[in-house]
Amino acid sequence: MATAVYPGSFDPVTKGHLDIIERAASLVDELVVAVLKNNAKTPLFSEEERVKMIKDVTGHIPNVRVESFSGLSVEFAKQCGAKFIVRGLRAVTDFEYELQMAQTNRSLCPEVDTLFFATDLNYAYISSTITKEIGSYGGDISGFVPEQLVDQVYEKIASRQRNESRQTGK
Ligand code: PNS
Repeated sequence: MATAVYPGSFDPVTKGHLDIIERAASLVDELVVAVLKNNAKTPLFSEEERVKMIKDVTGHIPNVRVESFSGLSVEFAKQCGAKFIVRGLRAVTDFEYELQMAQTNRSLCPEVDTLFFATDLNYAYISSTITKEIGSYGGDISGFVPEQLVDQVYEKIASRQRNESRQTGK
């Protein structure tokens, strides 16, 4: 049985992530989408919220499991019995970091290989960061995140903005 782990921050999961999830899931018996808990970045969504959002948009893919993890991706992959780590490559700018990460992971655990998926051209410019940026200015994010998450993302951004303005008194 071939299992793959797709680790990431998913803050929030985007249409680009979902496309990679669908394509990767079609190639393996089980795909574990793994939400990193202890990222250095302060996430907009809690780990539980991110897991739930991914579950909500992947319900139609039977061989996808969504989990959170802390620590090293390769250790989590080993725990899952996974042979592969899945990552998406949007552009050349991703390549250097992704190659370094794949080589580091390989040196830590040669049994787990990284599978790269070329991001669909329709989603090449999309990232979670850009989604939050656009949303924070009230721009249209319906092309960026799956439809059922759009309102939730706007609400979360607005709630963070309210908290920030309460704290700064502006
Ligand atoms: O969605 P992201 O933020 O690009 O995902 C990055 C992620 C979570 C895949 C990466 O930061 C990661 O694997 N973190 C866990 C710690 C780890 O394994 N580090 C070694 C790889 S450099």
